[in-house]
Amino acid sequence: MSTWWRDAVIYQVYPRSYADGNGDGIGDLAGVRAHLDHLVDLGVDAIWFSPWYPSPQADAGYDVADYRDIEPIFGTLAEAEALITEAHTAGIKIIIDIVPNHVSSAHTWFQAALASPDAPERELFWFRPGPERPTDWEGEFGGPTWTQTPDGAWYLHLFDKAQPDLNWNHPRVREEHLDILRFWLDRGVDGFRVDSAALLVKDPALPPVLPDQPHPFHDLDGVHEIYREWRQVIGSYEGDRTLIGEVWLPSPERFARYLRPDEMHSAFNLDFLCSPWDPARLRQVIEDTLRVHEPLGAVATWVISNHDVTRPVTRYGREETGFSFAAKREGTPTDLRLGTVRARAAALLSLALPGAAYVYQGEELGLEEVEDIPPALRQDPMWHRSGHRDPGRDGCRVPLPWSDTEPPFGFGTGTPWLPQPRGWKDRTVAVQRADPASMLSLYRSALALRRSVSGPLAWLPSEPDVLAFRRGSGFACVANLSASAVPFTGEVLLASGPLDDGLLPPDTTIWLAL
Ligand code: NOJ
Ligand code: CA
Repeated sequence: MSTWWRDAVIYQVYPRSYADGNGDGIGDLAGVRAHLDHLVDLGVDAIWFSPWYPSPQADAGYDVADYRDIEPIFGTLAEAEALITEAHTAGIKIIIDIVPNHVSSAHTWFQAALASPDAPERELFWFRPGPERPTDWEGEFGGPTWTQTPDGAWYLHLFDKAQPDLNWNHPRVREEHLDILRFWLDRGVDGFRVDSAALLVKDPALPPVLPDQPHPFHDLDGVHEIYREWRQVIGSYEGDRTLIGEVWLPSPERFARYLRPDEMHSAFNLDFLCSPWDPARLRQVIEDTLRVHEPLGAVATWVISNHDVTRPVTRYGREETGFSFAAKREGTPTDLRLGTVRARAAALLSLALPGAAYVYQGEELGLEEVEDIPPALRQDPMWHRSGHRDPGRDGCRVPLPWSDTEPPFGFGTGTPWLPQPRGWKDRTVAVQRADPASMLSLYRSALALRRSVSGPLAWLPSEPDVLAFRRGSGFACVANLSASAVPFTGEVLLASGPLDDGLLPPDTTIWLAL
C-alpha cells in the first residue's frame, strides 16, 4: 500500500495571511480553524504551516525564539493541538516547518551567548574574535553575514542579523533538535518541512567563497548525518511521518543525496518552481527529476509557488517567465490575463505528474503578485537588507480574500497587515466557489480527479513544443506550449481553458481518459 505522502497534495498555509480570527489584521490559528472547510472542500491531503512559533518576526517567523510553543499573535499551544485534532478528523495531515539552521536572536541560547564573552552558549553559535570581520561572505538576503557584538566579537548569520546560525558540530544543538522533533511528533504532527536544509554544516576554517573550490556552507557532506539521525526518530513513530527538505541545489545528483533511503522522504522541486514556461526546459526538469528519484524510490515533488517567490500568474505573464532571486523583474510588464491562462495550464501539468504536489495559499485563487505595496509598509528583511534593490517577498504574502466586495474581503475585521488590491473582489473564495470556470473550481476538480490517477509517467509522441504523457493505462495529460492549436485523442476529463473547435489551444493543458 502506498504511503500518503507519495501522492499527496500539500497546501501551504502562511499563518499571517490565511485568515484573521481576532481582528488584529494578522492571520492566526483561530482563522485557520474557522476556514478549515475551504481546505476540505478543495480536497487537499495535508497542510504545511510556515513557522508558528514564538518569534520577534524579524523574518516572518523564520526567526524562532522557542521551538516548543506558539507565537502569541497566532494563538496558543492548546489551539495548535486542537487544530491538529480537527484537521485529522477532517482527514488532513499536518506538516510543520522546522528551522534548524538558525534561531532568533531572542532565543535564550543566543541571549545567554551575548551576555558574556565567556558564556558556554557561544559554542552553540559561530562566534569569532574581532577586530576584523572573519569573512566577506555575502548573506542570503544580501549584505554581510557577520555582526559584531558590543564586546567586539563577531557572530555568523547567513540570513538576517536577527537569525544567528547554530553550530551543528555541537552535540547540544543536535540533541535539542531531536527533542524538538519528538515534542511535535508526540502532539501528532505528520511531518516536517526542513528550512534551509543544505546550509546547516559549515567548514570551521571559514574559507572564502571561490569558484571551483568547495563551498564553506552549501551542501557540505556532513549535513547528511543530521538527517539520518532525524529519520531514525521519525521512523520510531507510528503512522508514516515524513521529512521534507528545502534544498536549493543546481545539481539534481547532489539534490538526490538528501533523498537516500535513510534520509529525507522528499524535497521541494525548486528547479521545477524556477523553470520558465518553456516546453524544452520543463521536459528536461521533469526527466531529470524522475531520473534521480526513481533509483532511490524517493517521491518527486511538483511546486509552482511558495511564500518566497513571485506569484505564477505574474511571472508567467512576463516576457521572461522563469524565477530567480537574482532577477525578480519586479515592475517589468506582465500580462495577467496570459499569466493566468498559463498558470491554469501549469497547475494541470504539475498535478498530473507522478509524486506529491504543493499548492501555496492563494495559488488556487489565481492571486497575482502585489507589486505596489507602499515602501513604508514592506516588512521583508530581504527588502531592507538589500538596500531596497530587492523588492522582497511581501508581494506574494498579502492576506487572502475570502468574501465581500471591499477589503479586507472577509480576511478578518481589522486592517490587514498588508493592503489587498481592490481587484480581489472578483477573486474571493466566495465568488470563485460559485463559478465553475474559476481557478478555484479548476483546482478542486483537478484534486478530485487526481485521486484516480496512478502509475509511472510514459511520454507520448507529440507535436513539437507539446508535453504529452500517460500515467498507467487510462490517463493522459497534454500541455500545449506551442504557438498553435494541436489535435489530441481521448475523452476530455478536464481542461485548463476552452478548446478551439476540438483542438487544444496554446498555453492549455488537458487531462484525458484513454
Ligand atoms: C527559507 C524560507 O522559505 C524563507 O522564507 C526564509 O527567509 C529562509 N529560509 C530563512 O529561514
Ligand atoms: Ca489575528
